[in-house]
Amino acid sequence: MAVSIKSAREIELMRESCRLLEDVFARLEEIVRPGISTKEIDRAGERLIRSHGCEPNFLNYNGYPASICVSVNDEVVHGIPHVSHILQEGDIVSLDAGLIYKGYHSDMARTFGVGEIAPDAKRLIQVTRQSFFEGIKMAYAGNHLHDISNAIDRYVTPYGYGIVRDLVGHGIGSKLHEDPQIPNFAQKRKGIRLVPGMTLAIEPMINMGRADVEWLDDDWTVVTQDGSLSAHYENTVLITDGEPEILTMSGKCE
Ligand code: MF3
Ligand code: CO
Repeated sequence: MAVSIKSAREIELMRESCRLLEDVFARLEEIVRPGISTKEIDRAGERLIRSHGCEPNFLNYNGYPASICVSVNDEVVHGIPHVSHILQEGDIVSLDAGLIYKGYHSDMARTFGVGEIAPDAKRLIQVTRQSFFEGIKMAYAGNHLHDISNAIDRYVTPYGYGIVRDLVGHGIGSKLHEDPQIPNFAQKRKGIRLVPGMTLAIEPMINMGRADVEWLDDDWTVVTQDGSLSAHYENTVLITDGEPEILTMSGKCE
């Protein structure tokens, strides 16, 4: 399938969709603390999304039963919120969410520490975040898609961390998942050429241990095979004539 190029009007709607999602995240960050259940985070997130007059795009997506993916410690992505899953001091928690504003999707993820966390967990979160910015340095019109993938890999691999290969970033727009797929690890081929008006969800998922992941029996929750911690960092990005515009990052949620 062809990669969609957004019109000026579509870009405006994507900007607003992303701005509202960042606002949701800024508020969710404030409620992450020891003692809260993952379900409470989901409920708060859904309420915030609807309070903006938007729809949660994850809810019922291929049967996913919540609005916010809440993935704790060795859970990589797509954790299902549950009332009995209570966050503990020292956990790390990845929140992944998106919304639909006037038909346009946004998608972002952050990993937060719950209370005080171990130095090696902090470093994993920090390196995962920075890997996104290493990728984004290549997100210029005229470059190739896999320049982004290669830059992420080149930055992360020296840390000895495992880059998740079974899940990738994606185009985004009037659908949550559009072409192209965006791997976070080095590629032999160049990939498509980047063009102004492309909107991409770039989302490195990085494990402290090995890259291998598996799916729990709920058919959603992705966990590291070796039980090591995993972090996630995602923004929706616009390719322009100049600097890439990080649409889910206007300053409210780093
Ligand atoms: N944020 C996820 C992604 O980037 C989407 C979650 S899929 C859902 O692909 F089903 F959990 F919603
Ligand atoms: Co995504």
